[in-house]
Amino acid sequence: MIKFQKNKGFTILFIIIHTIHLFSVFIYGGFLFVDILFLSKMRQTLSEDEYTKAREAIMMHVRKVVPYSLMVAVASGLYMITHVFGEIGPDGMSTFQILLSIKAFFASWLGIRGINQKLFKINPWLFKSHFFPFSLVVLIILLSQFMYI
Ligand code: HEM
Repeated sequence: MIKFQKNKGFTILFIIIHTIHLFSVFIYGGFLFVDILFLSKMRQTLSEDEYTKAREAIMMHVRKVVPYSLMVAVASGLYMITHVFGEIGPDGMSTFQILLSIKAFFASWLGIRGINQKLFKINPWLFKSHFFPFSLVVLIILLSQFMYI
């Protein structure tokens, strides 16, 4: 994490927002991992009818939490980026700035899609399964680590 020259109160606020970002990412990304790794496998042992019922019993709770945690992840990310992006130097963007920009692009894409679907019931970029958002989350997490190089 960036070391701030600003006052202690600001540093504490940033740490809190960063932690909120991580927890909301755990909830959103965690569900996608569980879905891809385990829930999709329920089909192997349940009949189609049982699978539909079991999945709905889980999804009714997922819908109340997971889309909002994505929104919190995006909102906290947007707050942090305004403080850590920094000036673009004469030699162009740093690795951190480039990778953070790419990450923010994909994450905003997920966020806009999530907000459209949840709040406005618009689903312009339909995903047939959760594999595509899952792949984006894996990419975003990798970018979030390699941007510190
Ligand atoms: C527009 C949306 C987003 C923006 C602008 C954003 C921005 C940021 C920023 C600025 C940091 C680093 C702060 C620092 O330590 O200096 C960060 C950390 C991180 N972000 Fe995001 N983020 C967004 C959404 C997401 C999403 C959707 C995910 C994953 C699903 C994610 C995963 C992470 C992870 C794993 C870190 C932790 C890096 C670490 O401390 O090891 N972010 N994000």
